[in-house]
Amino acid sequence: MTIGPESFAFLQQFLKKRSGVVLDESKVYLVVARLLPVVRQHTLASLDALVDRLRLTSDPSLQRDVLNAMMTHETSFFRDKSPFETLKQLIPELVKKRGVMRQLVLWSAASSTGQEAYSIAILLNEHFCDLLKAWKIRIIATDISDVVLTRAREGLFSELEILRGLPTPLLRKYFTPLQGKWSISQECRRFVEFRQLNLNDPWPVMPPCDIVFLRNVLLYFDVPTRRAILERMRKIVRPDGGLFLGGAETMLGINESYNRIAGMGCSYYRPQP
Ligand SMILES: C[S@@+](CC[C@H](N)C(=O)[O-])C[C@H]1O[C@@H](n2cnc3c(N)ncnc32)[C@H](O)[C@@H]1O
Repeated sequence: MTIGPESFAFLQQFLKKRSGVVLDESKVYLVVARLLPVVRQHTLASLDALVDRLRLTSDPSLQRDVLNAMMTHETSFFRDKSPFETLKQLIPELVKKRGVMRQLVLWSAASSTGQEAYSIAILLNEHFCDLLKAWKIRIIATDISDVVLTRAREGLFSELEILRGLPTPLLRKYFTPLQGKWSISQECRRFVEFRQLNLNDPWPVMPPCDIVFLRNVLLYFDVPTRRAILERMRKIVRPDGGLFLGGAETMLGINESYNRIAGMGCSYYRPQP
């Protein structure tokens, strides 16, 4: 099955308007592979028929299924390692600065199925246990996709997902077997709040954040969208906090109003005062 150029152009616009995600011409194969299950699920005859339905009706379930299918939800525990090493190094510094408030707010801003937010929770349990007892710690985890958020809230991971990045001692300590999968412990779940948030729409009120992980999502947006999101993020990340981007993402030529700080094998950013 394939897709006509007009239908492809409509999908490009639909995705850009709804999420900010840019689909270039070379992605026809991706569209076909990802939308075929949606064609079947909605008992449609073809991809063009799916696009016609999308164009002519405002069927919310079809819109939702297309949007979810077109997103890349790739993630893993402790993805890229070095941001987590850097976070471990940064926390004692933040603890010194927040001694009066005794509160830390961390935001995983495109959390997918939750591995990033839960990796932060595991890191805090592993290395800053006393902090967790005495301080208010919030890990806010958001994503545009309600499907991945439902999975993230379940906190249930397959063997394959566990094997991708989670060291065995941490598996033993923070997970229990459940229904052939691995369930993350309450001591990690209790700090994590999952919410739906579209980075490309107006945001609900967010608290000032000490740490923001905005990783592996900007690369799907065009430069004006990246610039706008980074500008809004400037008002959320505390000037002495840290904003982490993905390994293939940069602020260079996009937003010059952050300082780049070298961490443990990766850099992070601080808004200029
Ligand atoms: C590749 S995953 C990155 C997950 C995690 N941050 C990591 O680095 O492992 C990208 C996530 O961004 C989400 N996403 C895409 N567009 C978004 C938007 N406009 N607002 C919020 N999340 C979005 C997708 O649903 C997907 O779960």
